[in-house]
Amino acid sequence: MNSSDNNNFKFFNAKPIAFLSVIYIYLIVVVIIIGLLYVNNLNDITTQTIPPRLIAQVVEKDIQLQEAKVIPAVDILSFLDPPPEIIEKGQKIFKESCASCHGTTGEGDGPAGGAMVPKPRNFNQNTGWKIGMKLSEIYKTLEEGIPGSGMTSYSYLLPEDKLALGVFIRSAFIPNAPEDTGDDLINLDIKYNLSEGTSLSAQIPIKFALKLIVSENNETVQKIDDIIASIKNMNETLGKKLFYKVTDNQFSALVTLNSDKNWKKNKQLFVDVIVNDAINNGFNGKVFQLSSAQWESLFNFLNGQIQ
Ligand code: HEC
Repeated sequence: MNSSDNNNFKFFNAKPIAFLSVIYIYLIVVVIIIGLLYVNNLNDITTQTIPPRLIAQVVEKDIQLQEAKVIPAVDILSFLDPPPEIIEKGQKIFKESCASCHGTTGEGDGPAGGAMVPKPRNFNQNTGWKIGMKLSEIYKTLEEGIPGSGMTSYSYLLPEDKLALGVFIRSAFIPNAPEDTGDDLINLDIKYNLSEGTSLSAQIPIKFALKLIVSENNETVQKIDDIIASIKNMNETLGKKLFYKVTDNQFSALVTLNSDKNWKKNKQLFVDVIVNDAINNGFNGKVFQLSSAQWESLFNFLNGQIQ
């Protein structure tokens, strides 16, 4: 023992209470420092701009906005040894529609999936899958979704796109993904009419239809058309670019924003309105990838357009 240890020891023997109070203050300081470190190191998920309550709402779905279309027949066998274009196509759709939850590397760590229970599947692990890793099973997951989870149905995607997604996920992420048997593929074909193709009639979400009925009486349609035309003729600005990027249907997006203008008060209200029911309101999955600064630009842009 050196002399300072000796001194401390004497101090404790002489004044135990005083010694304990010194220890106590020391402990408080340590706890505060650990607390500060923890708060400073909270990860991106907790500081993301999309409020976590989005997750509960993703589960309740209105009818999808859908244009009338003919669903082309696909030859399922051609997806067994797919050309690179198919995989690239799958990759592109994955980035746009799936990475927000499943993460760009498929690890299930996308920003929108942060608070989900169950968590988005980590495609890099080949255990614990509920429906399965075969192409036919991933197709089924996309067609039907997984009830009671954030994994909703993507049945509105074309069969070809759903297959491309499955092919991409299997080739890019899943280690030793199991193969379909001939029967698996024939059953998939029969179940979803893949080799026949079908036609779909146009449909719009009920909520949106109601908004349209209300707006028909008060010249809103004309107003929205004018805004769309004016945006088209404007110079390219960041706000304009973002607007086109995150909307699939500019008309429904603007009808939504025009029907209740409370969001104009501040950016957070604006974010809430959009992420609340993005897809049915004419926005697309890219809206979930906006940074805080991009939200700001989009907000300022649309705030200026909608009076
Ligand atoms: C809003 C978040 C979210 C988005 C977007 C999303 N998923 Fe999921 N996905 C989940 C969740 C959560 C699970 C886990 C569900 C469970 O285990 O019950 C899941 C599970 C899956 C599974 C695993 C099924 C199984 O057998 O366990 C597949 C495959 C899948 N998703 C594919 C996709 C594809 C492809 C897309 C894009 C078209 C997509 N997901 C978009 C949240 C999402």
